[in-house]
Amino acid sequence: MKGSIPEDKIEEVRRRTDIVSLIGEYVTLKKAGRNYLGLCPFHREKTPSFTVSPDKQMFYCFGCSEGGNGVSFLMKLNHLTFPEAVRQLAGKVGVVIPDRPLNREERERSTLGEQIRRVNELAADYFARALQSPAGAGGRAYLRNRGIGAEAIRTFRLGFAPEGWQNLLDFLDKKGIPPKLSEQAGLAIPRAGEGARGHYDRFRGRLMIPIEDVDGHVIAFGGRVMGAEEPKYMNSPESPVYTKGNNLYGLSRTREAIRQAGFSLMVEGYFDLIALWGAGIQNVVATLGTALTRAQVDLLRRYAPRVAAVFDPDEAGRKALARSLELFLAGNVHAKAVILPDGHDPDDFVRTRGREKMEELVARAVPMVDYYIDEILGGRGTLEEDRDKLREAVAFLCRIGDAVERNLFIKKVAEKLNVDQEVLKAEVRRVLSHEAAPLAAQMKKGSEGTRSGSCPQPDHLELSLIHMMLECPDRIPAVGASGVLACFTSEELRSLGERLLTAAEKQDGAIPDIYSLVHGLEEGPVRARLLNLLMGESPYPEELIDRLIADTLRKIRRKWYKERHRILKGKIVKAEEAGDRELCDSLLREKERLFQEEKRLA
Ligand code: UTP
Ligand code: MN
Repeated sequence: MKGSIPEDKIEEVRRRTDIVSLIGEYVTLKKAGRNYLGLCPFHREKTPSFTVSPDKQMFYCFGCSEGGNGVSFLMKLNHLTFPEAVRQLAGKVGVVIPDRPLNREERERSTLGEQIRRVNELAADYFARALQSPAGAGGRAYLRNRGIGAEAIRTFRLGFAPEGWQNLLDFLDKKGIPPKLSEQAGLAIPRAGEGARGHYDRFRGRLMIPIEDVDGHVIAFGGRVMGAEEPKYMNSPESPVYTKGNNLYGLSRTREAIRQAGFSLMVEGYFDLIALWGAGIQNVVATLGTALTRAQVDLLRRYAPRVAAVFDPDEAGRKALARSLELFLAGNVHAKAVILPDGHDPDDFVRTRGREKMEELVARAVPMVDYYIDEILGGRGTLEEDRDKLREAVAFLCRIGDAVERNLFIKKVAEKLNVDQEVLKAEVRRVLSHEAAPLAAQMKKGSEGTRSGSCPQPDHLELSLIHMMLECPDRIPAVGASGVLACFTSEELRSLGERLLTAAEKQDGAIPDIYSLVHGLEEGPVRARLLNLLMGESPYPEELIDRLIADTLRKIRRKWYKERHRILKGKIVKAEEAGDRELCDSLLREKERLFQEEKRLA
């Protein structure tokens, strides 16, 4: 089911996609031989095993066996359906897919997420226009006061929600968006109370800040009051397209700057990010005031392996730092702590002191680990306090997954707290042995279990032959003519072989198309093995390939005949035992026929 997109458009999108630049938008890739290498976005790894092949227009991770082409990459990464991914890709490569109105059946099929994204997009446009309208005068004045210029307003698509209960609802209604959908997008709230009907706008009289995913789609909004009312910010609730801890504010607009700088500057608030960006410090992301999550660390690391995070010097800031530090350590991100003078946030600091002072502060940032050990664990207190610190230190050390790294910190912490290193080490070991096996190990076991559990490994010879067909598509017709596919024991491989034949007949040698047949296989050992094989250089030299194919053909046939003979033999024994002469004779004749056939073919 390809949704509502014409087949030739899908084809065009595929043809125009360059997988290296596509994936390069999300994963930092380095050239390695003919391929490109990076850290896998689908599992956590320290050394790159995620490989992208420009020749084959495919990707494959040797660590987690995830693989496919450009469309499947986007589907996996952004949790999209096939038509959604094709549309997104079409936008990137400049293929226009007619946006004809959907009929009822199609509308039902188009996912809720896709519909919500569209509603959000319409709402963002509406708010942006409202900011520039007479009703937006207050909003414009507010932004002017905060020193936010036209370029930042445009880049971050800032807008304004006018006072009133259904400005946006009316606008969306005219665009054919039912209130129920606006509600699902988090933009409208159903009226409560007895006999109440209808909806009202969630955002009223607020400055609107669209929250985008890394691709720039609006997934939620933040709305700020312009006076001192409470709450200061109103945010969209979570929805099928918005999960709080999975996104970072601003990344869609700053990811290139982050990649270039090699690190990201992490702040808390919308306006911190916008102010820094406006001051020319553009490698910024914002966590939006909630505790950092593992998903956010993973997301950041796709663009740069280093982070400088801004923290307050107060108690809350220290707590936040300790929590974040664990995540950075676990995520293999090198983190530094930027500490602003008491009472400042990045927004007012950069506005009052200027870009250079801010950059100085960032340049002076210390590794977060050192900061943690020096400032949080360090400094002698009462005996009680020291004991608390020791307990905290042990808990912290236990959460460092990497043993080498852990020992390094044990040394530092021991020095800082002035305790014996061996004693500290023993204490950490004691706590660790009481805890369950580290989570990582458990997860690994779990996934290995499911991988090898129910799926038998594919037949080696059959797999090799399919691999040869894929590497040398011009030999596909010859393989087909040999009739060997009928001897395959793996149903999956035989049917793939048949589809290769059809594809080869149809479009003599359009390679990427042949690979897409592999991507289309069901997840499992066959798909994983083939993607893995395809990712390597072709092991079949041109001058040997015909001999190799002939050899493999022969072996597959021999195996097949051997199996026939084995089965026949069993039947013959049974027939003899039963004294069934007639059956016995016919089976023997069959055996002879089989034997002759094999000889003839060989
Ligand atoms: P802050 O209270 O530090 O606000 O919250 P701020 O970013 O400095 O905002 P301004 O400068 O007063 O405009 C940091 C972040 O926490 C979230 C917002 O994302 C904010 O940017 N927050 C804060 C809320 O979601 N709701 C609130 O009521 C307050
Ligand atoms: Mn602020």
